Amino acid sequence: MKRVGILTGGGDAPGLNAVIRGAVIRLAQEKAEEYQCIGFVDGWAGLRDKVTLSLDPGRVDEILHQGGTILGTSRTNLYKNPDDVRKAVAAYNSCELDSLIAIGGDDTLEIAYYLHRDEGIKAIGVPKTIDNDVLGTDFTFGFWSAVEQATSAIDSLRVTTMSHHRVMVVECMGRHAGWITAYAGLASEADFIAVPERPVHIDDIARAVRHTRELGKLHSIVVVAEGASIGGVEPKPRVVKTTNGNWEITQKIQRDSFGNAVLKPGEIAEAVAGELEKATGFETRGIALGHLQRGGAPCAFDRILGTRYGVTAAEAVIHKHFGHLVVLQGLNVETVPMKGAVRETQNEKKRYKYVPDSFLDLAEVFYG
Ligand code: F6P
Repeated sequence: MKRVGILTGGGDAPGLNAVIRGAVIRLAQEKAEEYQCIGFVDGWAGLRDKVTLSLDPGRVDEILHQGGTILGTSRTNLYKNPDDVRKAVAAYNSCELDSLIAIGGDDTLEIAYYLHRDEGIKAIGVPKTIDNDVLGTDFTFGFWSAVEQATSAIDSLRVTTMSHHRVMVVECMGRHAGWITAYAGLASEADFIAVPERPVHIDDIARAVRHTRELGKLHSIVVVAEGASIGGVEPKPRVVKTTNGNWEITQKIQRDSFGNAVLKPGEIAEAVAGELEKATGFETRGIALGHLQRGGAPCAFDRILGTRYGVTAAEAVIHKHFGHLVVLQGLNVETVPMKGAVRETQNEKKRYKYVPDSFLDLAEVFYG
């Protein structure tokens, strides 16, 4: 009997349960070897503290449609404390694990990689985040559900915005990359989209808003990413383009244990709304969709993508493709080495997958 640990780390995302279910059911069906799955509660904290949950096919039945994660999650950086790494390795050994499936964003995945590279833990990574900014995979599960949530919220906001002939500034999640903003903005016929990848000035937004009035519309929808770089507003742009073409967060802001900026929901929406009202004279409101984007049931695409990721992770365990990451490339779900996909050390600069220029150019066709 081989024991396989499963954990979910970082911010939750619709589709996590699909991955867990896919992996547990696929491993239970394996004929060549008997496998038993053990869940670790709240991500790396669960492995460190050895808090487990038994995972058999009965436990994962009918969780496909549920958002969140039945395992719980946390943003625990084991590498902040060498003792935590030691405890996690000891727990892995004392639970007599054959291998470990770690489901999470770049932070969770790099810990899986280091434990594999340095501690001999046989890890498989599965990329997750509503932000869709993990390198190496075309889409992370959770992203399309968040886009659906944001699109439907913006559709609702359009109704009240029209009634009051206002401008509505809607803030979407995405501190490093503007995937949700760009996709939900395009899907909901936004009059302007602002993402970290393409710095803009408040005057650009004001111009676009005035343009919609010239076309005879009495209302406008502006969608901004929480990490958008917008000149002419306070707080000042937090993300600037560097000479090597990357984007960097510049302001002194609160950071979590992985160094991620902790952004205040609504800050950018309020700031843009205030300046926009001053610049255009049109009554303007700001709203942050915040964690609503992470909640709710996974859409069908994420249920299927999560299922494919889970089954492929299980097969990576069976075929001993340890140190690999499950990815979507085109139409295929496959595995690639974690080496190269995540940072070699936590001192290196973080790398993200950004919305391509071609997509942003296309979106601009509709608010030029
Ligand atoms: O999971 C990524 C993310 O959704 C970011 O877009 C957002 O800034 C962050 O999580 C919020 O995290 P928390 O739930 O810790 O407030």
